[in-house]
Amino acid sequence: MDAPFFALSWSGGGAERAFRRRRPGVDDLPWGTLRPGDHPPVLVDRARLAWTDGAYVEYATAVQLSTIVEGLLRVRAPIDLIGMAGDFVADEMLHVELHARVVAELGGAVPYRVSEAVLHPAPAIPERPLLDLAWNMVRTCCIGETLAVPVLAATRKVANHPLVEAVFARIVEDEGPHAQLGWLFLEWAELTDEDRARLTGLARRELSSIGHTWLDPRSTVRDGVTTEGYPVAAVHGLGWLDSEAYVTTASAAAAQVVARLARFGIAV
Ligand SMILES: [Fe+2]
Ligand SMILES: [Fe+2]
Repeated sequence: MDAPFFALSWSGGGAERAFRRRRPGVDDLPWGTLRPGDHPPVLVDRARLAWTDGAYVEYATAVQLSTIVEGLLRVRAPIDLIGMAGDFVADEMLHVELHARVVAELGGAVPYRVSEAVLHPAPAIPERPLLDLAWNMVRTCCIGETLAVPVLAATRKVANHPLVEAVFARIVEDEGPHAQLGWLFLEWAELTDEDRARLTGLARRELSSIGHTWLDPRSTVRDGVTTEGYPVAAVHGLGWLDSEAYVTTASAAAAQVVARLARFGIAV
């Protein structure tokens, strides 16, 4: 049986008012200003896919962060560490909303199937709640979010459309603390040498599974035009980094993640 399609809904009313009180200012962004007709249609279709995928990734991160909050409560982590993390699901739902609204301006989402394994993950190490939590922290916060921050910041910097720039600005502001949570957890958690060895193996696999994309700049830019023949201004305006900038930024960020993990005895 095929996996169900990714679909989102909005409640409105009291839920919307409460959400807006917690995360104000969203409606002040320059909505309604993206003009897909200004760009090559093929590029706009790709952007619709990229922003649909982005909404899904933000949703999946909300799932991971809620698992992390549950794990922190379970291992009786410090009050402030749990309190810090407790707010992050709302951040990710805001990011889902921002992605969904951008994709609506580009002409709507593309059909996208969800992965049950991503949205309902089984614990990787059920017999050891602290180690299972440590792995979730390393994967989601120390690797995923820590890599996302410089990539999002670089994408924001080149974004030449006010709405795209504002959306990335809002998201990158939240992702810093999400990354920081993982490193604060590693400072607090009393892990054994055996635990660190297990985390090293898992982190190595994770980094190599996502790393091949950084090493392969599929496109270069010459005189403002990409290898595929698209104006780099359109690429930036629709919310991408060009491939070369992406590879440079992500590789440097990955090297920093590896160095920081090593300081906690996770020597990838
Ligand atoms: Fe996010
Ligand atoms: Fe995040």
